[in-house]
Amino acid sequence: MPVAPAAAQGRAKGFIEAAPVVRGEGGIVARKRGLITIANRLPVRQVGKGRAARWQPSEGGLVTALTPIVRESRGAWVGWTGVPGRAPRAFEHDDIRMRPVALTSDEVDGFYHEFSNRTLWPLYHDAIRTPEFNHQAWAPFVSANMKFAKAAASVASKGDLVWVHDYHMHLVPAMLRAMRPDLRIGFFLHIPFPPEELFAWLPWRKALLEGLLGADVVGFQTGAGARNFSRVVREFTEAQGTDTHLRYQGRDIQVNAFPISIDADWFETTSLSESTITRASEIRERVGAGRRILLAVDRLDYTKGIDHRLRAFELLLKRGDASVDDCVLIQVAAPSRERVAEYATMRTRIEQLVGRINGTYSEPGRVAVHYFRRGLSREEVVAFYRAADVMIVTPLRDGMNLVAKEYPASRKNAGGVLILSEFAGAAAELRRAILVNPRDLEGMADAMRDALRMPDDEARHRMGILRVQVKRHDVYDWARSFMEALKG
Ligand code: ADP
Ligand code: G6P
Repeated sequence: MPVAPAAAQGRAKGFIEAAPVVRGEGGIVARKRGLITIANRLPVRQVGKGRAARWQPSEGGLVTALTPIVRESRGAWVGWTGVPGRAPRAFEHDDIRMRPVALTSDEVDGFYHEFSNRTLWPLYHDAIRTPEFNHQAWAPFVSANMKFAKAAASVASKGDLVWVHDYHMHLVPAMLRAMRPDLRIGFFLHIPFPPEELFAWLPWRKALLEGLLGADVVGFQTGAGARNFSRVVREFTEAQGTDTHLRYQGRDIQVNAFPISIDADWFETTSLSESTITRASEIRERVGAGRRILLAVDRLDYTKGIDHRLRAFELLLKRGDASVDDCVLIQVAAPSRERVAEYATMRTRIEQLVGRINGTYSEPGRVAVHYFRRGLSREEVVAFYRAADVMIVTPLRDGMNLVAKEYPASRKNAGGVLILSEFAGAAAELRRAILVNPRDLEGMADAMRDALRMPDDEARHRMGILRVQVKRHDVYDWARSFMEALKG
């Protein structure tokens, strides 16, 4: 979500040797290969029109993770501004070189809303919502991918590294390779890659896989995603090889898991600033001093399990395991993809549930669920993390889930309990969270009860272990390992 100021986030890490300018140990500046990042979203999106137009930070985990990396590498970011029609010329914002790609209204509908978010997104998330297979959406998907590939080809210098991101860009690696065989091309998928039983549903499955096979390295959040990919590639294309090394059209392709992470130092530093600490106490006082805070922060997406979580909290109150005098649930949900019908339906369901729970359980001065449907600044999110006793991250399926890492990073010397879905990629690393199955409402209510009652020394011990994991494997570590693979 909101992009932190360069001064706060853009500290020199010197991790990307591929960057055009590398800060060595003795402050030496050397020229190396450039790094071009391609993602559907730029880290900023255009809001307002004409003279009122301005840039606002984009939402989502991809932007959170990539922003410090692209800034540090001093590379360029090729992406869409979030509005159809003409795109502005290349510009620099917050120390990042932006190369906007213009998409027509038909492309925004067919490529973004339809193919990316009504077909691939639900299918790749366990088909939680029934995916649509609309043949009209394929042509705009192809033409939009071609625009991103051409834009990258036009800014890349000979031998540069190009890093292509996420499910919108399936076809870009092969398109770019055809135009620029001199480039090293990496692809990273931020969301889960489904098993064959689901992937096989796609009428365009072969073309989508051949698109990715244009890359030299194909990366996934988890080992399961990487294995699923290698298997379907061998099943549906001419590629041969093992789970980690494929051979296709005379080239070698490396396939691996690269679990993404966050700029943990930034979250820690921000969480300890005076303004965050003041704001966190203010939040605590406003919801009622003495009440424990259970917090959830998500994009308003049906994969996040917000409705299941609310129902589990309702059950916790109904069972009498907690009362509105002891605790409060704060749900912050950033509006997302509102033109896709499932998102609008989801929003209505959540708002009805909040109304039902508050109608039944709230008391004067004791609201059961505080629901904020808005995107907050990154600093404000950290203040909420600092205020919260229990963080509930319970997606039905998630590639990684960065909120699960941001909370521990923001809890230096503060304890706190993380309740985490087994179906988030983060569960593979954050084993000392309370792991839950979000479809098991009784189990989730038990987890909330246990988290509220956990002795302080146990909470601090577990949080310490979670913090070590997140700090050791931060987003710089992630980028470094991907770059090492990409450089070959
Ligand atoms: P996704 O990529 O599916 O949105 P992640 O949990 O990986 O999920 O990343 C979400 C990112 O967006 C995190 O950096 C989180 O802090 C941020 N975020 C989510 N909801 C909000 C919100 N309501 N306000 C501000 N930031 C938010
Ligand atoms: C997830 C996806 C990103 C996407 C983000 C926000 O993090 O992996 O690719 O940018 O959600 O969604 P949006 O549709 O607004 O770009």
